[in-house]
Amino acid sequence: MSAKVPSACDAPFRLDGLTALVTGGASGIGEQTARVFAAAGARVLVADRNERAAQELSAAVGGGACAVKIDVTDPASVQAAFSALDKLDILVNNAGVGHVGSLEECAFDEWRELMRVNVDGVFLTTQAALPLLLRSACGSIVNIGSVAGLVGVKRRFAYCASKGAVVMMTRSLAADYAGRLRVNCICPGTVDTPFVEAYLEKYHKHEKAEMREQLNARQPVGRLGRPEEIAHMALYLCSREAEFVHGSVQTIDGGWTAL
Ligand SMILES: NC(=O)c1ccc[n+]([C@@H]2O[C@H](COP(=O)([O-])OP(=O)(O)OC[C@H]3O[C@@H](n4cnc5c(N)ncnc54)[C@H](O)[C@@H]3O)[C@@H](O)[C@H]2O)c1
Repeated sequence: MSAKVPSACDAPFRLDGLTALVTGGASGIGEQTARVFAAAGARVLVADRNERAAQELSAAVGGGACAVKIDVTDPASVQAAFSALDKLDILVNNAGVGHVGSLEECAFDEWRELMRVNVDGVFLTTQAALPLLLRSACGSIVNIGSVAGLVGVKRRFAYCASKGAVVMMTRSLAADYAGRLRVNCICPGTVDTPFVEAYLEKYHKHEKAEMREQLNARQPVGRLGRPEEIAHMALYLCSREAEFVHGSVQTIDGGWTAL
């Protein structure tokens, strides 16, 4: 039997009866998205290349959540993950990696790796999910972009290019599938996740406190975002309350792109 589509009479921002797959769901923004979606009534598929973390999280969030091992850069892995599903209402394309460097500081291998995860990954997972999403009465995709897909950020050449592609994949999908499923993009500023901690560890091991201050200052509000703040925006975008929101690019950046 198909799931009940939430109605306007229900409590707002609910995902009861819906199945959501979150790539990169085992950490940071993806982890909080899994938690928030499960609390809103969704069955969450925590899809990550880190299988153990995905299993631990799905056991913790409950609501029938389960782990899906996936490497979004590998067509065979993506096919295997999606062919096991018989239902999907929501896809959150969240898996992503970063790179610090200008064009001169970006080796071709690094460029390719970033494009494989951040761009090929969205292509592959969206293509694999599409038939299931089109069968849903309320199919919805949320792509996690970045302010770096909207404005230039110093020494983030490859990352900016990859997130610009995420923004434009969102708009292109919105043009092609309007009325059949909804597609939106979230562009966060700097968010306090293991992604940022790994950046500090790799590039600023001996000056973490000073660099953290600089990261705070990039947002005019003077702090980093919290992953649950991004997760709640994703919840809104996938909820019935956002039925008219399609092809949108939502900044959530403490004012970064307002200046
Ligand atoms: N943290 C920030 O400041 C920030 C800001 C803007 C946008 N973003 C974007 O948000 C998304 C999530 O970032 P985060 O900060 O939560 O990162 P994170 O490093 O905490 O989590 C990323 C997750 O993605 C998984 N992953 C990476 N490559 C994968 C692959 N090939 N296949 C499957 N899973 C893979 C990792 O195992 C990890 O669980 C990324 O797309 C990132 O670019 C982050």
